[in-house]
Amino acid sequence: MPTRASLLLPIVMVVLAACGGDHPMSTLDAHSDLTREINHIYGRIFWWTGLLFLLVQGGLIYTVLRFRAKGNETTNPEQVHGNLKLELTWTILPIFILLHIAIPTVSVIFKSQAPATEEGKVTINALGEQWWFAFEYPELGVVTANEMHVPLGKEVEIRLQSDNVIHSFWVPQLAAKRDMVPGRVNQIKFKAEKLGEFYGQCAEYCGDSHALMKLRVVVDTPEDFAKWVEAQKAPAESESATAQAGFQAFQGAGCVACHAINGTTAAAVIGPDLTHVGSRTTIASGILENTEENLKTWIKDPPGVKPGSKMPNLNLSDEQVASIAAYLQTLK
Ligand code: CUA
Repeated sequence: MPTRASLLLPIVMVVLAACGGDHPMSTLDAHSDLTREINHIYGRIFWWTGLLFLLVQGGLIYTVLRFRAKGNETTNPEQVHGNLKLELTWTILPIFILLHIAIPTVSVIFKSQAPATEEGKVTINALGEQWWFAFEYPELGVVTANEMHVPLGKEVEIRLQSDNVIHSFWVPQLAAKRDMVPGRVNQIKFKAEKLGEFYGQCAEYCGDSHALMKLRVVVDTPEDFAKWVEAQKAPAESESATAQAGFQAFQGAGCVACHAINGTTAAAVIGPDLTHVGSRTTIASGILENTEENLKTWIKDPPGVKPGSKMPNLNLSDEQVASIAAYLQTLK
């Protein structure tokens, strides 16, 4: 038989685990206007429901203690039918509490999906794929995957779409969570308030590698963001011997059937755009650090790294793999 203390232990541990440390996926650390407002509503709901909990439980405990049978009492309590005052109170009071929660909630939902209008806004089309994210900046002419850059303090409007199954775009500290639904465009808007790298994850079960469908949002100063845009718009490096041999291997292996590399003949849009894949911090949708060794592991056997990966194992030789990996690393 477990003792009462041992039953409490897991609860205490969970509570303690929430204290301190770095929690990049914690929704409680808000770093955008949107997530701050959501946390504000969260706090409001927490305190109102906490108050109700105390009132209801307090009344219950009081009643149990005050009116419990004492000794061998046999008299039946007085039978009552209804109490108008009490019933009005517990109908009207919750209406006010629910309105107090509903009005700010609905207003933040509307605000979060309104189009961006301010000077310096950035629009991004985000497409959920199995299992990675495609990002396109239509006004800036940038296409990338799995890592989006945004400028600090500027409105970012993301148009969320999918052409396969439902995914959910979730960046807890910046962009909250919103579904990517085939056949419709959902919008989410936020202004980042802190520089740095923020983690995201697909939050709707979408198949084999749902859990491995990650993303990152890098918040840059507006100057660094402009530099990043310039670098992304430039065509891929193609002068060096590594690049030339690498592109030959890339083409020979059939990679051009799915991927685009600007400035080369590769222009397919089935897999992620690789024009500047070397500039990303991770590969395979955020699950491996972007190193030459990891690239080799990934190219050699994609479904081995990511179950169900649409990039097949092409049975490439070690030479082909090495040449392609070295080439992709040059695409900064
Ligand atoms: Cu995409 Cu889960």
